[in-house]
Amino acid sequence: MKISLIRTYTFPIFRKPSLPFHSTFHKPISFSSSSSSLKPKTAIFLRPPTHSTPLSDLKKWYTWAKTLASSVGSSFLHSDNGPDASLLCRELNWLLEDSVEDHSLIPQLGIQESPQNVNLRVDLDELYCLWKERIEKRKPLQYLVGCEHWRDLVLCVEEGVFIPRPETELMVDMVSDLIEKNEELREGLWVDLGTGSGAIAIGIGRVLGKQGKVIAIDLNPVACSVAALNVQRYGLQDEIEVRRGFWFETLKDVEGKLSGVVSNPPYIPSDHISGLQAEVGEHEPRLALDGGPNGLEDLLHLCNGAASMLKPGGFFAFETNGEKHCKVLVDYLENDPAGRFCNAKIVSDIAGIQRFVTGFRR
Ligand SMILES: C[S@@+](CC[C@H](N)C(=O)[O-])C[C@H]1O[C@@H](n2cnc3c(N)ncnc32)[C@H](O)[C@@H]1O
Repeated sequence: MKISLIRTYTFPIFRKPSLPFHSTFHKPISFSSSSSSLKPKTAIFLRPPTHSTPLSDLKKWYTWAKTLASSVGSSFLHSDNGPDASLLCRELNWLLEDSVEDHSLIPQLGIQESPQNVNLRVDLDELYCLWKERIEKRKPLQYLVGCEHWRDLVLCVEEGVFIPRPETELMVDMVSDLIEKNEELREGLWVDLGTGSGAIAIGIGRVLGKQGKVIAIDLNPVACSVAALNVQRYGLQDEIEVRRGFWFETLKDVEGKLSGVVSNPPYIPSDHISGLQAEVGEHEPRLALDGGPNGLEDLLHLCNGAASMLKPGGFFAFETNGEKHCKVLVDYLENDPAGRFCNAKIVSDIAGIQRFVTGFRR
């Protein structure tokens, strides 16, 4: 079934320039949890360039990979709104950029028989396997390279962890605008519920600076370990704490004390999941997508929980599936029998789609 989704479950077509990273870590990555920490995979761009390979062999791989991508034409686009050949060719270049140490050698791939060697971060055989997985299994590029560019961040991701989407970036801008005018909220404690790779928590952690603190929650242990890695890579261990748990379950110690609650929870109606593009429906974790029969199950739970977790004047922002969800939530908040919320508002995303619901604890 081909369905049209309000949520842009496609991958960004522009890649932002990389910023410098903390590429190696000596401290163990940890998060508070009842289970033991998992070790996240190392993204290709963070691996050492130890695979010296003849440029001519890399060229053979590149030609093969381009032919495979071109053979897709518009077939994925027509079947489930997936990527077409031109987007796949762009992705191929991103894979190449992450894999090759010296980018100045990339243009030489078009030149006949250069005798040079090139240092790769990944073995050539693995590159063949990765690209086959991209085309034949529709595995998202982000899982192959192990990262996603989001705002000014490059976040590690891996299978089992939701890939952060561009529309969610606005959540950080909303918080940034708010705290500019409100010192009390800037210095307070914020929570990102369902943190995934840690994207929103890290974005907010950076705008709050040293004054504020963020707790990043996820039920999925793989997400927690990847979020903890990303927090550490951006040097925010003192500002962001990653906790594993079910929504507000591990937050009893901060009940009624929060300055802000933000979340991009699962909000796809359960029976829409089989109609998503294969990259999403077959590869991203169902726990990150499935919002119950009408997609509102978690959103309503979060609205209720926010009322008891926030301090008076505290702010909340939730991402939704679009206009219908926004209207239901605003109606719910405005008609709360206990009158616990005020200034409930719908905010559109960069595509002009009603996407977020924001408001304050009265
Ligand atoms: C749509 S993803 C968003 C991830 C991330 N915030 C982002 O925007 O990229 C939803 C996240 O909620 C988490 N999640 C789902 N149910 C949860 C629950 N009951 N408690 C905590 N986290 C949950 C999922 O594991 C997933 O990481």
